[in-house]
Amino acid sequence: MKHSEEYTPGYTQNASNFMAQRSANNHAAFLMPHLQKSSRLLDCGCGPGSISCDFASVLTSGHVIGIDRESSQIELARNRAVSRNLTNITFNIGSIYELPFSDSSFDVVFAHAIFEHLASPNAALSEVFRVLVPGGIAAIRSPDWGGFLVSPDVPGLEAAIDSYAKIQVANGGDVFVGRKLPGLLRSAGFDLLRFSATYDCCQSPQLIAEYLALKLPDAEANTLRLWSQQPDAVFAQAWCEILGTKTV
Ligand SMILES: C[S@@+](CC[C@H](N)C(=O)[O-])C[C@H]1O[C@@H](n2cnc3c(N)ncnc32)[C@H](O)[C@@H]1O
Repeated sequence: MKHSEEYTPGYTQNASNFMAQRSANNHAAFLMPHLQKSSRLLDCGCGPGSISCDFASVLTSGHVIGIDRESSQIELARNRAVSRNLTNITFNIGSIYELPFSDSSFDVVFAHAIFEHLASPNAALSEVFRVLVPGGIAAIRSPDWGGFLVSPDVPGLEAAIDSYAKIQVANGGDVFVGRKLPGLLRSAGFDLLRFSATYDCCQSPQLIAEYLALKLPDAEANTLRLWSQQPDAVFAQAWCEILGTKTV
């Protein structure tokens, strides 16, 4: 089935560098206590693979597979695994809508920063459910654009962030998917273990400003770039995290 969406950030060097700063400890802390060393884990929409590789370092007798629909990201992820001497991880091109795995293949399915880009989250979750073993865990984390902490408040800043949100929605995404995760997982058949929300403070406001600016008209892009150069610039975003289990 065709799903009508376009991945808003694209695959510029800026976007890839932005993702590659991520780590399992910082971005998957909600899942880490639930992992066994022998877990078979699938990372959907793995991007450049920094979080996936961290999982592989922890799952010493398990295996990690990262999938992403974009070949350039899979190449970056494979290179990262090689440079970290990881032998229990593989990366493949694939879509979350048609996971190239048999039923009941994984103990854990993780998806970080992908559901906000999906036009059909229900279809994606039904695939996640299918490939999990009974008792397996789905761990999903996505931002929710309802609660930015941004400072200093310069004219046009809020409008520029709103413009980017509109582009993402026009591309088929949902910038408020974070708060909807409990309902989505429940309707896909999961029992909910825990829902939580946290804030991520961007350590490099210039990186996030450029990430957004690259998709915006010049005037809004410049507003973001100028704002990010201020020494006290703060950009913090709300993220929602959920653990669901496949109880059958
Ligand atoms: C924002 S990035 C997140 C990358 C990584 N999970 C992280 O947090 O660092 C989202 C990734 O999801 C991938 N993606 C988007 N739609 C997808 C789909 N339908 N199936 C598989 N991957 C998809 C994109 O190509 C992109 O690499």
